[in-house]
Amino acid sequence: MGEAPDSAELAELARELGREAGTLLLAGWGQVHAVATKSSAHDLVTEMDRASERLIRERLARARPGDAVLGEEEGDTAGTADSGVRWIVDPLDGTVNYFYGQPAWAVSIAAEHDGQIVAGAVVAPGLGEEYVAVAGEGSWRIHGTRRERLRVRPPVALSDALVATGFGYRSERRACQGLLAAQLLPRVRDIRRVGAAAVDLCWLAQGRFDAYYEQGLHYWDWAAGGLVASEAGAVVADLAGGPASERLTVAAPQPLVDELAAALRGLGAGECP
Ligand code: IPD
Repeated sequence: MGEAPDSAELAELARELGREAGTLLLAGWGQVHAVATKSSAHDLVTEMDRASERLIRERLARARPGDAVLGEEEGDTAGTADSGVRWIVDPLDGTVNYFYGQPAWAVSIAAEHDGQIVAGAVVAPGLGEEYVAVAGEGSWRIHGTRRERLRVRPPVALSDALVATGFGYRSERRACQGLLAAQLLPRVRDIRRVGAAAVDLCWLAQGRFDAYYEQGLHYWDWAAGGLVASEAGAVVADLAGGPASERLTVAAPQPLVDELAAALRGLGAGECP
């Protein structure tokens, strides 16, 4: 177990690295080619996803040499026993938006200490927005020289809620998720699909949605955004109220989160193939 690091410093480092990677990514925005696919033909990897993760790993190795790193493109790299810190990196969340020249994409970097997420940053250069969070202290949106403390919207009934969601890449999963969204749609105000889970969670924190849910997210998709949302007053959980997981991530303030989770359970969410 490592000595507890200063979480605010980790958050600041995450933001700095997110900005550097974001600047690199701006150069290829809307102009890159896919170099590979992952879970399906539409799950793209561009050379920029890889370059962004390489840059973040290099900078982390210099700034905090003993730390472990889990990154979307290169997987898990162990750290030294005395560090206790692991970085969770999505070098480019919203790759399809990025590929099409749309603005909702982000670099998402979180830091865990002894298995708990303690700091995070989501940097979205296409939107000109940055978000940081420090566990137990709060989360903020940084826009130019302005730094605003984030607070979710006061909870509404599910029938009045604007709910964001996302869809996985495999067609069997999408068919099932689409059916579920179609059944939820008449029971809520409306549904949004932004295309970058980290941005969804930050926008929830900022009051741009009332709630968010998605099946099949990877840890790197929600690690930093989940802290931004929970520090702004959202509960970020799975369907049974446990920690968010790949099976399902539901996020909203209480009691809306319970109402949404109950509705999703009733519709069989989390069971898509
Ligand atoms: C994807 C985005 C998308 C979500 C998918 C994720 P990627 O991440 O966050 O909004 O619906 O589930 O896989 O592939 O762009 O890093």
